[in-house]
Amino acid sequence: MDHFLYRAGRLWAEDVPVGEIAETVGTPFYLYSSATLRRHLRLFAEALAWGPHLVCFAAKALGNVAVLRLLGEEGAGADVVSEGEYRRARAAGIPGERIVFSGVGKTRTEMRTALSGGIRQFNIESEPEMRALSEVAVSLGREAPVAIRINPDVDARTHAKIATGGGETKFGIPLSRAREAYRTAAALPGLRVVGVDVHIGSQLTELAPFEAAYRKIADLTALLRADGHDIRVLDLGGGLGIPYTRSNQVPPLPAEYGEMVRRTVGGLGCEVVIEPGRLVAGNAGLLVARVIYVKDGEGRRFLILDAGMNDLVRPALYEAHHDIVPVAEPAPDAPLQPFDVVGPVCETGDIFARARLLPPLAEGDLVAFRSAGAYGAVMASEYNSRPLVPEVLVQRDQFAVIRARPSFDELIARDSIPPWL
Ligand code: LLP
Repeated sequence: MDHFLYRAGRLWAEDVPVGEIAETVGTPFYLYSSATLRRHLRLFAEALAWGPHLVCFAAKALGNVAVLRLLGEEGAGADVVSEGEYRRARAAGIPGERIVFSGVGKTRTEMRTALSGGIRQFNIESEPEMRALSEVAVSLGREAPVAIRINPDVDARTHAKIATGGGETKFGIPLSRAREAYRTAAALPGLRVVGVDVHIGSQLTELAPFEAAYRKIADLTALLRADGHDIRVLDLGGGLGIPYTRSNQVPPLPAEYGEMVRRTVGGLGCEVVIEPGRLVAGNAGLLVARVIYVKDGEGRRFLILDAGMNDLVRPALYEAHHDIVPVAEPAPDAPLQPFDVVGPVCETGDIFARARLLPPLAEGDLVAFRSAGAYGAVMASEYNSRPLVPEVLVQRDQFAVIRARPSFDELIARDSIPPWL
């Protein structure tokens, strides 16, 4: 459920007409609903209320500091994968003890920043990384809390580019080497083993792969405890999918996910950490764009928008589907016709949708891409020297620009010409 609904013939974001924001901010822009973000976060907190838990929002899905502040104030922690994300989370006021640091390639500099600034745990993905963290911790005279990310070798049954739990991916340490890896970590100075970590992929639409992975983690936890490790935290990653269309293929709800977590690992008495990104932010955001031209091609009609693949890359990169809706509510009996919805970028792949059935649309009309809150703005680029589009946050009848559109002067001023030219 989200808070982008038609009322009185127009699309609203909570209690603000989307068209009014477009008039003020210009298009394209990302638009987020505070109520939807809060609601999705609470669903997870309620789903895990049966035991000690922490919901660490995956900042990679939507890293704007205002959004992190809002979620942090609701009690969320953050899952970060870079120094930039760590600093954003801290700038948003999320305390270090609510931040987990994931990722296969943490540098020593990143480790140093997080360890001296405060961190709940590092999710370690390899033996070399363990040794690096040990060195950093010793040099700082601190102890680094660690969980080891285990690759459980399960098929997440999601898009190949976002599946991470298969044995062939770069992620985690194979289950077969897990006990040895924990032995190594426990023997290294400066490390304190606190938990086990797993994340098998993103946009999962079934519980079965999670359940298979979590059962393996539960069995492993028992073994590790028998080996003498003090396992208190299970970080179960993110990955729960969202409905991108109004089809009947609805992914499991957070409540069902929470029940499954209880069933699989609830008996171990561990604190459960989860790292959802997409489910919290995805349906809390729109990308709003304007139709520049309607162009008739050979046997097809193109809707050329002022947003392009550089602003929302998911369709081009993953063949992802985003519903596209007019901001002016179409009449219920409006005839639908197929449009190829494209951007202005000079790439054949700059296509959002082919033969998408849409109501009549004309030059100047506003459209909104739904489900664009997660992996939208954060994956944008300035390709074709198109400045990053602004982000706007709505709360009831108020809205604020939470990232301004850079001017062309700002865009150009970042380059510098060397003295010999
Ligand atoms: N934790 C870890 C260690 C992750 O790698 C990810 C996502 C998450 C949590 C959050 O997963 P979520 O709950 O959002 O599914 N750009 C792709 C998605 C990449 C996901 C990467 N890792 C997309 O647009 O679909």
